[in-house]
Amino acid sequence: MSRARLAARALRLALSRSHADPTADYNAASEDYDTYFSPVMGRHSLAALAEVPVTPGDTVIELACGTGHLTAEIVRRLEGRGTVLAVDKSPGMLAVARAKVPPRPGGRDSLRVELSEGDMESFLQGLPRGSADVVVVGWAICYSKPPRLLAQIERVLRPGGRVVVIETRADAHKALTERLERIFADDPTLLTGLVRVALPKDAATVARWFTKAGLTVAVRREGSQVIPAHTPEDVVEWIQRSGAAAGFKDAVDSAREEQVLDRIRAGLAQLLAREGRLDLHHTFVVVTGAKPADRPAAAPRAGTSGART
Ligand SMILES: C[S@@+](CC[C@H](N)C(=O)[O-])C[C@H]1O[C@@H](n2cnc3c(N)ncnc32)[C@H](O)[C@@H]1O
Repeated sequence: MSRARLAARALRLALSRSHADPTADYNAASEDYDTYFSPVMGRHSLAALAEVPVTPGDTVIELACGTGHLTAEIVRRLEGRGTVLAVDKSPGMLAVARAKVPPRPGGRDSLRVELSEGDMESFLQGLPRGSADVVVVGWAICYSKPPRLLAQIERVLRPGGRVVVIETRADAHKALTERLERIFADDPTLLTGLVRVALPKDAATVARWFTKAGLTVAVRREGSQVIPAHTPEDVVEWIQRSGAAAGFKDAVDSAREEQVLDRIRAGLAQLLAREGRLDLHHTFVVVTGAKPADRPAAAPRAGTSGART
């Protein structure tokens, strides 16, 4: 019965277009993101980036650059020559990124770095076709309509240009998301907006999005990381400070946010008592690919003149 009420509320919220925006959560998490998320999950982002060649002179687009964890590595790999155009929607995250990777005007044989505030899809729409060598999307394709974003990525890549995506899998932090679902099912009025995230089921899902957008797939793999939080209190702290619960602030009745967090803690305490441990797995996928290189014009077949008559 309560699940039906939750579904009804979700439908009403969808019809009224009350979609939760993760920006407030990322602004709030920006100071702590590099203490919580980056040291744990950032090494998986760096490993994913290492799977696409970035060479000096390249033009690299980074969508949703956050605090610049990957941006700094892209800059390092360009060795002082090339262009980095990064974008993020959260002013808080961008402020941290700009302190880490200061913008540079560039010039002949030097490095240009621009970090812009805005929506990643609109940002791509403003870039010329075939203007990028590499596009990087770390933990953020879920905030888009992925096939539509990838179609824009395909447009801005030059033929042979590469793309890398790392994203959280839909089954990540299962114990936590199940607990949240139960809390909202018990009292659907706690929910004031819908957290709309397109988390993929698996790497094959992302690979299908690539193919649909006209991109080839080179690497397709799954990964998992146990988050370093083993008590209910630690878990709540980790999800709040790492940005892992982005969209939560906007999705929950703000006057009752603490009440929801207390109920999460209580649920996790029950789980800990029952199972003797509280391991949250942050599962994820990595997919890399490319825009197919231009095919050389077909040579005229023997016996044909090649000229139209
Ligand atoms: C989990 S963080 C990832 C940050 C960074 N890529 C990294 O690897 O650490 C997700 C980022 O996506 C940004 N974001 C969410 N929706 C966005 C959108 N529509 N356009 C641009 N940035 C967005 C958030 O502000 C946040 O900085």
